[in-house]
Amino acid sequence: VAIDGPAGSGKSTTSRLLAHKLGISYLDTGAMYRAVALHFVQNELLTSDENLSSVIDSISIDIKNNSVYLNDVDVSSKIRTQGVSNLVSEVSCLPLVRSKLVEIQRSISRNQSIVIDGRDIGTVVFPNADFKFFVTASIEVRAIRRYEEMKLSDDNIDINQIMKDIRERDRIDSSRSHSPLIKANDAILIDTTDLDIDQQVNRILEIINKQN
Ligand code: DC
Repeated sequence: VAIDGPAGSGKSTTSRLLAHKLGISYLDTGAMYRAVALHFVQNELLTSDENLSSVIDSISIDIKNNSVYLNDVDVSSKIRTQGVSNLVSEVSCLPLVRSKLVEIQRSISRNQSIVIDGRDIGTVVFPNADFKFFVTASIEVRAIRRYEEMKLSDDNIDINQIMKDIRERDRIDSSRSHSPLIKANDAILIDTTDLDIDQQVNRILEIINKQN
């Protein structure tokens, strides 16, 4: 099941619960891009680094029990900070980063049923997915959701700044030349602006159950 959409659309929470209800695995590909961005932040690297190829080669990203590991260290909380959010769109424009992570995503998903969420899952990673959804919501609702999520790991956050950052991230994610955020032609649009989490999950479940 491929679930794509912009930041704060509710796709990660929905995907996690959906996978649980279906009794299958879940993969958050945004967490993988965030872990790579964290590596850049921690090592004060630039995306214009001359040795980009060896930098990317030296990074190991792993997902175990819904936690993300950067070079064998669990970074599941650290990847949710504003510093990482600010850099992640720039890092995820890099073709070398994308090809590395797409390969890991395909290998994790091989031979198992899985709900996988991101920006390019239905278009690039799994164009032949059995089910494709594009989840979206108004920018205001998305900023509030991201604020609630970030509050857990960061005391120093500002809702207006988050809204600005989301707008900027949408712009970069949607306009990059490599695997931009777009709805696949055959993806079903789910607008979650007025839906709570249970309603989002149930709407998707109903569609899957109807087609199965
Ligand atoms: O879903 P998220 O906000 O945690 O994703 C973080 C960033 O990672 C997002 O700004 C774009 C990028 N991303 C991507 O380019 N492709 C994916 N499949 C998933 C995320």
